[in-house]
Amino acid sequence: MNSSEMKGVVGKPLNRVDGHAKVTGTARYAAEFPVAKLVHGVTIQSTIASGKIAQIDTRAAERVPGVLLVMTHLNAPKVSGEAGGERKLPLLQDNQVRYSGQHLGVVVADTFEHAMQAAAMVNIRYDEAEPVLHLKDNLDKAYVPQGKIPRNEPPDSAHGSIEQGLAAAAVKVEQTYTTPIENHNPMEPHATTAVWQGDRLLLYNATQGVFGDKKKVAAVLGMPPENVRTMSYFVGGGFGCKGSTWAHVVLAAMAARQVNRPVKLVLGRIQMFGPVGFRPETMQQVSLGATRDGKLTALRHAGTSITSTFDEFIEPVAKTARMIYACPNIETSHRLVQLNVGTPTFMRAPGEASGSFALESAMDELAYALKIDPIELRLRNYAEADPDKNLPWSSKSLRECYQQGAARFGWQKRNPTPRSMRDGDTLIGWGMATATYPTNRSPASAIAQIKADGTAIVRSGSQDIGTGTYTVMTQIAADALGMPAEKIQFELGDTNLPETPVSGGSQTAASVGSAVQLAGVAARNKLLQLALADQASPLYGAAAEDVIAQNGSFLLKNKAATETYGAILSRHGLKTIEARADAKPGEEKEKYSMHSFGAQFAEVRVNLNSGEVRVSRWVGAFGVGRLLNAKTANSQLIGGIVYGIGMALMEHTVMDPNRGRVVNADLAEYHVPVNADVPNIDVIFVDEHDPHVNQIGVKGIGEIGITGTAAAIANAVYHATGQRVRDLPITLDKLLFT
Ligand code: MOS
Repeated sequence: MNSSEMKGVVGKPLNRVDGHAKVTGTARYAAEFPVAKLVHGVTIQSTIASGKIAQIDTRAAERVPGVLLVMTHLNAPKVSGEAGGERKLPLLQDNQVRYSGQHLGVVVADTFEHAMQAAAMVNIRYDEAEPVLHLKDNLDKAYVPQGKIPRNEPPDSAHGSIEQGLAAAAVKVEQTYTTPIENHNPMEPHATTAVWQGDRLLLYNATQGVFGDKKKVAAVLGMPPENVRTMSYFVGGGFGCKGSTWAHVVLAAMAARQVNRPVKLVLGRIQMFGPVGFRPETMQQVSLGATRDGKLTALRHAGTSITSTFDEFIEPVAKTARMIYACPNIETSHRLVQLNVGTPTFMRAPGEASGSFALESAMDELAYALKIDPIELRLRNYAEADPDKNLPWSSKSLRECYQQGAARFGWQKRNPTPRSMRDGDTLIGWGMATATYPTNRSPASAIAQIKADGTAIVRSGSQDIGTGTYTVMTQIAADALGMPAEKIQFELGDTNLPETPVSGGSQTAASVGSAVQLAGVAARNKLLQLALADQASPLYGAAAEDVIAQNGSFLLKNKAATETYGAILSRHGLKTIEARADAKPGEEKEKYSMHSFGAQFAEVRVNLNSGEVRVSRWVGAFGVGRLLNAKTANSQLIGGIVYGIGMALMEHTVMDPNRGRVVNADLAEYHVPVNADVPNIDVIFVDEHDPHVNQIGVKGIGEIGITGTAAAIANAVYHATGQRVRDLPITLDKLLFT
């Protein structure tokens, strides 16, 4: 049959199919399910960063009206916080305090207010120990991680000899770059509603991975996974912090079982600085060596990041350095230092965002040292194949990104001399950086069902973390089924639906989209076979390849005959016909190196008197494969760049240096960009067709937008001021007093 999919609604700037539900408030988030007999849980968190609970007095709390339970390590059921999944969870199993903000108890009451009041009345006496809080003071304790960095790669890599490469260099840049702890701060806080039905557990959870939650919670509570069902229909942002199952999810389930009532547990904004992950502080050394004409002879990227005392998370800052530039001598490493902090986690482009700040700043420094234009320097070291894996790219449009981005930005008018552009008391600077993010994919399944009334339902577990999954899956399904998008209902967010991976690593569109496309085509073909074999059908006896599917009908190419899907089903007495597809990555992973690429261009205006930096103009050009929806894709890239503006200029989780308590744990003190901080962002999508990544040709767009962003700003600040800031965020004190 003639494949008409991908010619229809895919790629169009369709409005979000869930937009109406969201703006009218009918979209239900995890904390909004009106479960009968619901009661409210509030967690009590440690105020010290290291030590033991000497005494915990819950008597006053228990006397607060409406209080049903004060659960602490003294009365919590025994569970295994180390079982299953990727995070070790402190779950009230002992009196150890490992970081400030660790959950030490849960109060459950009839109302949220009673639970809050009682939580404040729990009196804890600590045996406080001296916390270990500073990366810089503990570099001697840095160790080689036990685990792997993403894509199952080892923490260290080496090609050639870095010493020989540096010895052969005419020009060298060797610098240290640092990035602070940052917190995700999604609009929707973490929230779990736990409902027991006998020995079965229902969880409404704010999550990026319903199946991960199901498996982790089942493992920790010692239950068969099939007895846990997780639902997540709408998520108000995740950015990585909702990609793992954290302690409060399990605590809500434990508390609900204790009180024999459904429990809703929402973390307040202030409670999210510690127990649900953060982007770890990093210290990165970059050494670049080059010939006079700008050919790299050595590239070393050595990263050290912080982790908790009880678990390991590696921020893979040096991963990009393995593949982004051609160089005979490349060495990368990752080290960890344990501090009394919560366990860090993925945060939008984990590794690539913080790592590209260091590497792309160093490339700018090298461009100045060589007096070569920064784009030209990158072009002279353009990697025509993946230098680490020695594999061809599945597709790479980075040259076009540099070209088209530079043209739109007006880069050729740039005078490279720092402080050469000025507008009264304002210094103006232009900077650029390379962006890149891997193309990921995991197994995913979907079921497509065509109904006799001319509509279809397509189902796949998954979750929409605000990116537009409902919308783009509706578009893929519509084209695969040969039906209009308005006739498709796409359902997700439930572990009772076919299994899908975590919405992390920018992989949902590629993974779930492939399954949805296969399921849609399979259901349509099943229906077509019915018609072709049916003497009562006007299509009887036709060859499948002569049939076009469109607008809910099959049509002979010569237009001699047509029949609607509904008519075929009705004649066969069928209400529905359905097909399931299980899609998974194949051998393309072994044959190609698969990445998205882009080029970021920033203009900044720096106030000469105050040091205030404003981003005044932005162009980002990206090669990300097929666009599923021009509007949501643009939004994803803009969102990533805005996240990067925050990283460059504002975001910094500040710990009390003595006690390890976050002192800016709210949105008044933890600054993220607001509208006034964001200029018009001009996103260019370079036309790119990748036949290898997956059958729908998409590369994933949730994370590449932030990569290179902080470096482009730092490079623009240098161009404006002549001051190189190697420590994020670039706040005005660093410009005035360095
Ligand atoms: Mo993203 S940090 O992979 O959720």
